[in-house]
Amino acid sequence: MVPFRFLLLFFFLGAAVAESSQTFLQTMTQNVAASAFASDHLYCDSWRFSVETNNARFWRTVPFRCREFVHEYMSGARYASDTDIVVDESLAFARSVQIADDGNDAWIFDVDETLLSNVPYYAINGFGTKVFNETSFNEWVDVGRAPALAASLRLYQELLVSGFQMILLTGRNEAQRKVTEENLLHAGYHSWRSLIFREDSDMGKPGVVFKSERRAELEAQGFRIVASSGDQWSDLLGFPMARRSFKLPNPMYYID
Ligand SMILES: *[C@@H]1O[C@H](CO)[C@@H](O)[C@H](O)[C@H]1NC(C)=O
Repeated sequence: MVPFRFLLLFFFLGAAVAESSQTFLQTMTQNVAASAFASDHLYCDSWRFSVETNNARFWRTVPFRCREFVHEYMSGARYASDTDIVVDESLAFARSVQIADDGNDAWIFDVDETLLSNVPYYAINGFGTKVFNETSFNEWVDVGRAPALAASLRLYQELLVSGFQMILLTGRNEAQRKVTEENLLHAGYHSWRSLIFREDSDMGKPGVVFKSERRAELEAQGFRIVASSGDQWSDLLGFPMARRSFKLPNPMYYID
């Protein structure tokens, strides 16, 4: 016969074990969640590196596990800080350039994710995790209220004062000229020398071909292409190439 006090002891011990194993399970679940988060974060940071260095190419969507990472990157301090540093480097170079007084020293800017930010559009469309929808993107473009990328506006203003010719070279269509001009002015840009769009004859050309052809035309017109700023490698690569190219970050989409 087990004395009553031992029964009581077993009861309390049993309750204590049950209680602690529940805490243990909770802790385990939290640890698994935390390490899944940590491994996603690590993976997505490496994925972003691969994208920015042009090691990863022809990707169509942001990996779904990186949705929160890209959201945080674009909305938080990182994107602002990264673009600020790109602009600081651009300005350091610009100040080292001897500008001639013939009005032929050109700085080429891309528009989307370079001068203007489409983050408000991507914020309600999955931050690049969904396949690009041209219809809904063009609807957003037609509103003409894309904000300026703050760092790029700072660069643009200083370059203008320094005497560079601002040439805007965009993959947008000629049909979007009016709304794009209005949007740029609304965002604070002005006094560009030219704003170049894709014409009907450029449809289907990869961005890198279209933009290289336009740079060749600019050089034929007598411009010296001192620098290019763009968020896509296809804004910058190809022949002829600017003396210096400045790559802005964009982990949301890829254009070849
Ligand atoms: C693309 O956007 C349009 C306009 O907002 C919408 O009607 C259409 O369903 C979308 N297509 C897809 C595949 O999501």
